[in-house]
Amino acid sequence: MVAMRRMQAAGIDAFGGQVQMLELAAPRSPAPDEVVIAVHAAGVGNWDEIVRLGNWDVGRHPPLALGVEAAGVIDAVGEQVTTLARGDGVLTHPLPLRQQGAWAEWLVAPAALVARKPAAVPWETAAAFPVPALTADQALTEVAPAPAGKWLLVHGAGGVTGGLAVQLAVAREATVVATAGPTSSERVRGYGAYLVFDYHDPDWPARVRDASSGAGGIAAAVNAARGDAATALGAVVDGGRLATITGDPPPSERDVTVADIYVRADGARLAALAAALAEGLLSLHVAATVPVAEAAAALKRAVAGRAAGAIVLALERST
Ligand SMILES: NC(=O)c1ccc[n+]([C@@H]2O[C@H](COP(=O)([O-])OP(=O)(O)OC[C@H]3O[C@@H](n4cnc5c(N)ncnc54)[C@H](OP(=O)(O)O)[C@@H]3O)[C@@H](O)[C@H]2O)c1
Repeated sequence: MVAMRRMQAAGIDAFGGQVQMLELAAPRSPAPDEVVIAVHAAGVGNWDEIVRLGNWDVGRHPPLALGVEAAGVIDAVGEQVTTLARGDGVLTHPLPLRQQGAWAEWLVAPAALVARKPAAVPWETAAAFPVPALTADQALTEVAPAPAGKWLLVHGAGGVTGGLAVQLAVAREATVVATAGPTSSERVRGYGAYLVFDYHDPDWPARVRDASSGAGGIAAAVNAARGDAATALGAVVDGGRLATITGDPPPSERDVTVADIYVRADGARLAALAAALAEGLLSLHVAATVPVAEAAAALKRAVAGRAAGAIVLALERST
């Protein structure tokens, strides 16, 4: 009898269960359209808590390695895969999952959802990039397909995803107004935000309206502040657009279009965004990289939302 290959992973044995180390079946040979990635690093986000609780269907059930973004090296390719080869460095947000999540030694992904990692981008940064970058890009495109010359608000720009939304909007030549706390405001200015308001000031939406009135007001806004989309709506001009990524779309008012954005996997778009990261047009700060065995504490830190940057798990091979 052939012994089944096993792998170490961090995840759950039931939805709602505590994050723990699991020993799971290692990947089978890849299907024709798939690759197997030897994971070097995997991102940890507030969204992993939503998976843990069973409220985001990632396509698989427990026992389940958590994690929906990773960077690593291609270990095997399916017979139809011509764009990637064994040894290539890659990053991915591979949903729906084909086998297990990303907090594991190996990850199976469709080649179409995988992007090459530019050599200049560190593993940790690449691992934490796919979900925030795709989300920021998709939210921004939803509210402002042609942002050049428009005034755009990013509420919650001190966070990882909000910070990327600011940088993408600046790169697309929007005039960006952002909210951030005192410890993040300088960093957000460094991303190119024209004005930064402290969200602790309850009057910030009125101040944003005043500051933007000469330019016709805030035509488009992205909310990345948890539970605060309704506040962001108050800063948007009549007939404008608001996209929220925090699952809390408020009812429309004053003909403002409100969109509820959930990240969509997209390998081609991820490749373009990773190229912008390598060129220095985008940046992402990694606040902490910890061993996969510390995944439970890492997730709690991400949920607390005060890490001031991304949290990453480092994977070690057991074989
Ligand atoms: N829909 C999706 O597909 C999707 C994808 C990615 C993320 N998300 C969600 O987007 C949210 C942000 O995620 P993230 O991981 O990028 O964030 P994060 O890095 O954890 O953001 C934390 C930061 O948010 C800022 N913040 C906290 N409360 C705020 C408030 N009331 N107003 C404005 N800013 C506030 C703080 O910045 P300061 O330092 O400025 O105080 C804090 O450092 C989370 O809810 C996450 O689940 C959703």
